[in-house]
Amino acid sequence: MHTILITRAIPASALELLERELPGSALVLHEAERVMLRGELLERGRDADAVICTLADTIDASILDALPKLRVIANYAVGTNNIALDIAKERGIAVTNTPIILTDATAETALGLMLACARRFIEGDALTRQGQFTGWAPLFHLGQGLYGKTAGIVGAGRIGARVAATLARGFDCKILYCNRQRRPELERETGAQWKTLDELLRESDFVSVHCPLTAQTRHLIDSRALALMKPTACLVNTARGPVVDEIALVAALKAGTIAGAGLDVYENEPALAPGLAELKNVVLLPHIGSATHETRETMGLMCAQAVIDVLQGREPKNRVV
Ligand code: DGY
Repeated sequence: MHTILITRAIPASALELLERELPGSALVLHEAERVMLRGELLERGRDADAVICTLADTIDASILDALPKLRVIANYAVGTNNIALDIAKERGIAVTNTPIILTDATAETALGLMLACARRFIEGDALTRQGQFTGWAPLFHLGQGLYGKTAGIVGAGRIGARVAATLARGFDCKILYCNRQRRPELERETGAQWKTLDELLRESDFVSVHCPLTAQTRHLIDSRALALMKPTACLVNTARGPVVDEIALVAALKAGTIAGAGLDVYENEPALAPGLAELKNVVLLPHIGSATHETRETMGLMCAQAVIDVLQGREPKNRVV
């Protein structure tokens, strides 16, 4: 009999799979509509053999110390920056994530933010509801087009590559990318050009962030980087909030040194940097990159399967360490 801590409500199909494959196991569920408090995690996870957690749970060294039986952490996310991977590895705790399945949903979110930002859709919706649409006029509510523009992709992993391919094929965009390694396949498919970050920032009309959060990418887009962008450019972030210095971003948006931003993620989620919510030239989403019914359902099943595999002595798919 195993104990499996699940730190947030997840789709029922994942719980059913666990119950079917690991009969008799205790599923410790956190039903509250909020992130588990650290004390709750320590208390309720004490006997856990497995944890299914989300990107909002910080699984650091002291949590790992307090869960001595732990064999697997299945992160309900592709990013694993919330977990002390090196320590988990040292202790032989398997950590898994949910890649690939959320590529399309997250790419859609980035593209939606680009369009919403460039064409000022959210502002337009608000003024229409408020009765401020008084009729079509040649100079009313103008924005920028996306077709044929230059798009800079920061981090050309699966999601960045999908955004690049859609922009190249669907919107005739010129694609620039920066990535630690060159991506010849992406270059062949989309005509993408490999650039330094500074070159990409200087030349792009749209900059879309898709790199993971690491010590190297924290505040990669800081005030210096923002100052390199065109005053007409939009920044989109669907990766992790801390990759962008949010206070510097608010300053750049206020000063008009960039035209707009579309954000799905925040530096101190769910809090927003002071002044961000008051700006008109920003579109703000509540971290819904992967939030489609089908994606979240499959993410749940992937986490459950990873737990089942480890607890039944098999190597799990999507093992990060
Ligand atoms: C992830 O999986 O890392 C996403 O941010 C969750 O939507």
